[in-house]
This record gives sequence, C-alpha cells and structure tokens, in this order.
Amino acid sequence: MEVDVDVDKESHHREQEMSNWQELEHQYFMKTVERTPITLVRGQGARVWDENGREYLDFVAGWAVNSLGHCHPVVAGAVTEQAKTLIQTSNQFYTIPQVRLAELLVQHSCLDKVFFCNSGAEACEGAVKLSRRYGHHYLNGAYEVITTTNSFHGRTLAMVAATGQAKFQQPYLPLPVGFVNVEYNNVEAIKTATTEKTCAVMLEPVQGEGGVRLPSDDYLMAVRTWCDEKGILLILDEIQTGLGRLGTLFAYQQYGVEPDIMTLAKGLASGVPIGAILAKDRASVFTPGEHGSTFGGNPLACAAGYATVKFVIDNNIAENARRVGQYFITGLEGLKQKFQFITDVRGRGLLLAMEFSSDIAGSLVTACLERGLLVNRLKPNALRFMPPLTIGNEEVDEALGILDKALSSIVG
Ligand SMILES: Cc1ncc(COP(=O)(O)O)c(C=O)c1O
Repeated sequence: MEVDVDVDKESHHREQEMSNWQELEHQYFMKTVERTPITLVRGQGARVWDENGREYLDFVAGWAVNSLGHCHPVVAGAVTEQAKTLIQTSNQFYTIPQVRLAELLVQHSCLDKVFFCNSGAEACEGAVKLSRRYGHHYLNGAYEVITTTNSFHGRTLAMVAATGQAKFQQPYLPLPVGFVNVEYNNVEAIKTATTEKTCAVMLEPVQGEGGVRLPSDDYLMAVRTWCDEKGILLILDEIQTGLGRLGTLFAYQQYGVEPDIMTLAKGLASGVPIGAILAKDRASVFTPGEHGSTFGGNPLACAAGYATVKFVIDNNIAENARRVGQYFITGLEGLKQKFQFITDVRGRGLLLAMEFSSDIAGSLVTACLERGLLVNRLKPNALRFMPPLTIGNEEVDEALGILDKALSSIVG
C-alpha cells in the first residue's frame, strides 16, 4: 500500500496541536510514575523541546540512556539504514549487526561472550540465571545470590528481590527466594552471608538509583578476592555506570577488578532499547534452549548499539565524561560553598548528585524546569545529574547558572 508521508506528517502535527496529551495520559495510562508536567516532542544533542516549542537543557538524558545525546547522527543514521534493511528476524538465524556489536564489546572489555536482551532488568535477571546454571554445574547446586542494600537491579519480580530497597519489595511480597541483601561497601557482610548455597555476588560498582554512592577504593577488590577464595562468581551491574559514564569505558577498570559476569543496558544504544549480559568463558555455561529472547539482539537495536559503542570508543567519549565531569563537580562544590543547605556533592564522571539538609529536591526540579533545565529528583533531599556524555563545559556552565538561580529562588 502506498502511503503519502507528507499528508501523514501534516495530520500528525495537526493532531499534536489539538490534543491535550497530559489529560489523555491520565485517562489511559497506569499511574506508575509522577511525571514532570511537560510533553517532549523533539530532541537534539543535549537539548529537548516540548510541544509548545520551549527548549530545555536535558541533564536527565533518558535516565542516563542518551549517552551521545538525543538523535545523534551516527545513531539516527544507523537506525534509518538498518530499518530499511532488516529490523527483526529471530535468534533462530544468524544476523550481522549482533555479531558486530558482540565482537566490539568483547574486544574492548575483559569478558568473552555476550547475550543480548532488551532492558536492564532482563540483563540482570539473565545474569542471575547464568550464575545459577554455574552453581548447578560447579557448586553442588548453589543458587543464592548476595546483593546489597540500596542497590537497584530492575523491576521484574526476581530483580525486585535482588534490589535491596524495601519500598520496591513491600508491594509485591512474597518475593522469589534465592537473594540475600547485605550492607553495601561492607565486605565482611558479604563474607558472613556466604554459605554453601551461594553462587554469586551481584553489585553495582557505584550505586546509581540508590543515591550515587561510591564505595571505598578497596571494596570491589576485597569482594573480588573473597569470590575467588570461595569459587563464586562476581556479577557487576554496569547498566548505569558502563559505556563511559564514570569516565572510563567500564567502571570496573577504575577499581582494578574484573567481573565474571557484567550487565549492560541504558547507554548501550544511546536510546534504543537493548540490554546485554557479558561473561568470561568459564562462566558462559548456558546451553541451547536454556535462555532466550524474541527481540533480544535484533538487528535494529544492535545496529544502534554498534554505532554508539564505536563512536564512544573512537572519540574517547569516556575521557570527555571524566574531564567534563571533573569541571561539573568543581562547579557543584562552588555552589555548596555558597548555599549552606547543600550538605553533599558526590559522584564520578557524569553521574553526579547533590544532597540537601531538607526535602527540597522536588521544588528544585520545578525551579530548574521553569528556567529551562531538566534534572532528576533522586530522593526527596537529593538531585542527580546524568547528562549526555558528549556535553562540553559550556553546557555545564549553563546548567550551573540555572541551578544557582533555582537554589537562590528556594531560599527566597
Ligand atoms: C544499575 C541498574 N541496574 C538495572 C536497572 C534496570 O534497568 P531497566 O530499567 O532498563 O530494566 C537500572 C535502571 O535504572 C539500573 O540503574
């Protein structure tokens, strides 16, 4: 069937002008999130525009997803080209984009094998399944995974059990068994929780959703040593920290450890949904039929992933995140000197947080929004900044200027 694209576009624009999207959302959508009251229709680089044409500097970036910014030409180009070539087959067949992306990830990480899925939760859940298979093969059927309090590994039922935060767990009790949550940044707690049932420890190198919490420098090494001593696996969830966000391609590189299994998602395809489990050869114990996904590794997402990761590597985007992140945190510390109610500024690379002595984060999100800056309310008393990794000091200056005004407006 022939479709007149221009007529289609025109009626789409007309419809956009006529509809009250936010009211329609309230009518049709399950209420799982308190949205910021703007409707975004376009994005480019670190900027987005709402339906009224108003421009915003985007320091939320799809929750640390748009690593190259919105609609980066290499990603848009790869998606367009792949959409005209081959979008989805099934994993019954070989396809080229997924092999190219897997090769790139293996060549630039310490891992040997890849499995693609569609989201972070799915990647973490698959990693847990993989560690259980390992437990069945090599650890007398051990199946328990030790995770940490304040962690975040996704919203599936098993990942809610893995996620050490009561607010995500309480509404869904009883939870699947096989997870033990222990204190973060405390290797002794992991040692105490380890039993003959333990097959793995799963950690975020830096906790993202849990508050942008950095561990002490020797924590991951101590956990690695313990896992080696016990013969259990170390799974690093690099869904938020990976692909350059912390200033190196992967966060584990900053802590001198290598995981046995690593999960990726978020920034992997700069906005196109994709997730990945990577594993060392010895931990890659799935056999045909034991795990799978209809859409996982589809050519469209993998073409976007390949374009993103190749651009990140070729242009040393991780180093940009390190350098600009350093500039940004220095600016945030300057604001801390100025405003007594800022109690902490922390983070690494372009994953940063600012904490306050009272619950003003919601008001600050609004005050920033009114001035054209999008930021994330991490907690009632904390903001998180996770802009595209491609930003420069100029965008940081602009954000700091708005933040300064927003903070001033709060004190009145
Ligand atoms: C560290 C970490 N793991 C897992 C997830 C879950 O990812 P998704 O929302 O794509 O399922 C997130 C999402 O914020 C995350 O930050």
